[in-house]
Amino acid sequence: MNATAFLKQHVIDPEICIRCNTCEETCPVDAITHDANNYVVDATKCNFCMDCVPPCPTGSIDNWRIVPTASPYSLDDQFSWQELPVQQEVATDATIALEALDEDVDALIAQAHIGAGGKSVAPASASKPSVNLFNRLKPAIATITGSYRLTDAATDNDVRHIILDFGEAHFPVLEGQSIGIVPPGVDAKGEPHRVRLYSISSPRHGERPNTNNLALTVKREPNGIASNFLCDLKKGDRVEVTGPFGATFLMPNDPAANIIMICTGTGSAPFRGFTEWRRRTMANASGKMALFFGARRPEELPYFGPLQKVPAELLSKFFAYSRVPGEPKTYVQDMMRREADLVAGLLPSDHTHIYVCGLRGMEQGVDAALDDICRGAGLRWADLRQAMRAEGRYHVETY
Ligand code: A2P
Repeated sequence: MNATAFLKQHVIDPEICIRCNTCEETCPVDAITHDANNYVVDATKCNFCMDCVPPCPTGSIDNWRIVPTASPYSLDDQFSWQELPVQQEVATDATIALEALDEDVDALIAQAHIGAGGKSVAPASASKPSVNLFNRLKPAIATITGSYRLTDAATDNDVRHIILDFGEAHFPVLEGQSIGIVPPGVDAKGEPHRVRLYSISSPRHGERPNTNNLALTVKREPNGIASNFLCDLKKGDRVEVTGPFGATFLMPNDPAANIIMICTGTGSAPFRGFTEWRRRTMANASGKMALFFGARRPEELPYFGPLQKVPAELLSKFFAYSRVPGEPKTYVQDMMRREADLVAGLLPSDHTHIYVCGLRGMEQGVDAALDDICRGAGLRWADLRQAMRAEGRYHVETY
């Protein structure tokens, strides 16, 4: 059978482009040109290197159309555009060049966000994320500058805070986004390992303001290819990184936003980023932040020590421990019920956002707890959840 080959063609949105010429100056293969009307990309020259994407001040550069490889949009087509053409329906197959490079990252993200119900939506006030700047063909190379154990050394639960420095490379991220890690080597079938996604646990401008690094929170899993690779990395080791990924599980950029964060274990990663960003940039924000954090016991709760130092005015913290000898097993949903007044007080506000991150198993319990809390406060969770999802105020990332 003769399948039609498709190409993911790079195009520029003429409605957003401010004609600053940055992309044309940046393109190493002279694929970008312009006339008096538009900046355009020559499909016969573009090699998908992505060099032009990070410097673009508007994001107009980051647009793509799947087209038959034999008939991409010509330069003249693009010069005549007042707006981008709508994506034509195509029979996708494995011949779509870039899709294959991006592997199944989109599928992984969709899978993680399944609990958000249908298509997830970013908070209206969130900053615009950059995505897919680096891929397997052209990964960013990061250097490890720190790796610290976050859980008590006496436990067999090895969770680490790992810092990746990007040197001169421009790798812009937002709180809540993920990166891809490419473990070196091949799998049992002799094929390169697949990319694994990890949530970023630092705020957008680095571990300390204006450092070009980011942090991950990684749990060593028995036989985990990527987690053992990452947890074994030493200072000075280099690692291939793809991404950034994720355009919806983002922090509202609004000091009035109330943020309820619910997590287990390494699901705390994005919330460290959220808390740090607010602490650094909006310390006197009127919006409240509350963290419900589940772990087996204090010794196994990532960031236990640093969290004690976060002031209560910035963050209300509620820890739920499931395996403290002599104490009843407590999950985050139990703790939420215990703090029903606080949660119910925030839920009716249009400024309130809920984020759930961690074990897939907790989704149902958290949902049931919110249902109970709403009922007790004369609210209908089913309606509220639907509205919050549609408005980008309810976010779930579970695995
Ligand atoms: P459990 O003691 O039942 O395993 P870790 O990542 O270190 O395993 O921690 C995950 C935490 O989440 C543990 O306290 C675990 O409790 C808890 N947990 C497990 N299943 C659920 C669930 N369905 N709902 C909420 N928390 C859960």
